[in-house]
Amino acid sequence: MNATIRDAVRWLAGVKRLAVLTGAGVSKESGIPTFREAQDGLWAQYDPMEMASKDGFLRNPELVWSWYEHRFGMVLSAQPNAGHRAIADLEQLFPSVTVVTQNIDGLHMAAGSTHVLELHGSIRRYKCLSGRHTDYSLADFADQDEKPPRCPECGEIIRPDVVWFGEYLPESTLQQAYEASLRCEAMLVVGTSGVVQPAASLPRLATRAGAMVIDVNPEEDEIAMTADLFLKGRGGKVLPQLVAALRAQR
Ligand code: APR
Repeated sequence: MNATIRDAVRWLAGVKRLAVLTGAGVSKESGIPTFREAQDGLWAQYDPMEMASKDGFLRNPELVWSWYEHRFGMVLSAQPNAGHRAIADLEQLFPSVTVVTQNIDGLHMAAGSTHVLELHGSIRRYKCLSGRHTDYSLADFADQDEKPPRCPECGEIIRPDVVWFGEYLPESTLQQAYEASLRCEAMLVVGTSGVVQPAASLPRLATRAGAMVIDVNPEEDEIAMTADLFLKGRGGKVLPQLVAALRAQR
């Protein structure tokens, strides 16, 4: 059943620890297509599994690297939208806010959120294939012509620091996401279809630990079925309304 902003404000009264779980939908209004939507134009002919798996990368490193360069270009030119900014504003309204995101675009940080757990890594960070040398940025390879470039430390090829199909999520980040879900008193879920694990299990974990779950999404997806409140609409519209209503009430 559709709830109203007023219902959400009432439910959030007195909450001290808030967790926010986000997915591709929150970045849509910044013009960033979802993973599958990114397979358009020139790229439509390629299998997403080939573009986002270690095996695919090893089979055709040059092609996969060019695909990530294309996606990185999109991310670099994107700006946080009203939804990202409203999520950052929540830090002024709740003593503790942890953002757990499946997005690799870094836009929550760009909007000003200070505690962000990037479950699927970041397209702004690079590491060598062995994983021993990390935290590079693309600028570090500006003087290399080779694609993909080589690690200055060990000579291995460089890959984006994102979680590919078949790979484990960063352990400490995942652990912190579980803890945030278990400790929060309320979880705001925005723009995720709730089908990709383990992120999809976090709202259920929060519910079982006694937290209230509010889902913001234009579609009634998986999460909406089990959430305590469903706010139907775009993140960029609903979240600023929620923040304004919370501010008015304090
Ligand atoms: N505001 C809020 N939600 C939106 C908006 C919007 N403006 N537009 C679309 N949505 C919702 C859709 O209705 C859908 O429920 O965002 C969700 C996007 O779902 P997915 O594309 O499945 O994205 P996500 O849940 O983040 O997928 C998880 O899967 O492809 C992999 O690694 C990739 O991180 C991604 C993961």
